[in-house]
Amino acid sequence: MKGVVLAGGLGTRLYPLTYTTNKHLLPIYDQPMIFYPIRTLVKAGIKSVMVVVSGPHSGQFIQILKNGKELGLEHLEYGYQENPMGGLADALKVAEDFADDESVTLILGDNTTDADVSKEIASFEKGSIMFLKKVSDPERFGVPIFDRKEKQKIVGIVEKPKKPPSQYVSTGLYVFDSRCFNIAKGLKPSKRGQLEIVDVQDYYIKEGTMKWYELKGYWHDVGTFDSLLEANKYWASKSLNH
Ligand code: DAU
Repeated sequence: MKGVVLAGGLGTRLYPLTYTTNKHLLPIYDQPMIFYPIRTLVKAGIKSVMVVVSGPHSGQFIQILKNGKELGLEHLEYGYQENPMGGLADALKVAEDFADDESVTLILGDNTTDADVSKEIASFEKGSIMFLKKVSDPERFGVPIFDRKEKQKIVGIVEKPKKPPSQYVSTGLYVFDSRCFNIAKGLKPSKRGQLEIVDVQDYYIKEGTMKWYELKGYWHDVGTFDSLLEANKYWASKSLNH
C-alpha cells in the first residue's frame, strides 16, 4: 500500500493568506497543515508517500518536508499537477508511476484527523474504501446516497448537494486498488471543469466493491477561515492537554 497526499489547488478561499504560500503550508497550531495528513498515513503504517503539488508555490514543499524522514517516512516523492484546478482525480493520475500497480491510500492535504485507520487499511484487498463522518453541514461535501432497503449500502455519491440525502459526508480519505488510475484516465471533466474523485468512487460503487467505515475521532477539512480557526483551536487544545 502506498500513500498519496494531494496538496495542489490555489487556495483562493484563503486569500490573502495564500498569495505568498500554498494553503497546505499554513500553520495549524504548531505544524504546517500538510504534516497532519502525512502523520495520518504514517500512523496507518504507510511509509512510502507521494505528495502531489501544483500552483505558484510548489517549490516550497521540499524546504519543509525535505525527504520526509522527520515525519517517519521511508520514501517521499513529489509529483506535479500541471493544472492546479484540474480536480482531485486529475491530481491522482500524477501518482500512477509512483504507485507501480500497488493500491493507494489517498488523503487530501487539507484534511486533519486523529483517527487511526490502520486496521481498515491492513485488511483491504480489492475495490475501494470511503471513510464517512456525520456533520451538521453536509451540503459542503460529497454526500453518500444509501439504499432505501439495504440501509448500510451506498448506491451513489453527490458532490455538494443543495438538499443532502444524508448527514454523513465523504472525508478526504480514500483507499483504491490500482485500477483507479485507468478509471481516472477515462473520466470526462464535470460541469465545473474538473476530473471528479466522486466519479472514480462511482465506478467502484456500481461494481459493488465499495466499502465504507465511519471515521472515529476528530476530523475536519480546512478550506475556509472558520475551519482553519477551528482546526487550530482543536489541535492547540489537544497538544496543550497532553
Ligand atoms: O474534504 C472532503 C471533501 O473533499 C469531499 O467531501 C469531497 O467529496 C471532495 O470533492 C473534496 O471537496 P473539496 O471542495 O474540499 O475539494 P477542494 O477543491 O477544496 O480540494 C481538496 C484538496 O485537494 C485541497 O487541499 C487541494 C487539493 N487539490 C484540489 C484540486 C481541485 C489538488 O491537489 N488538485 C486539484 O486540482
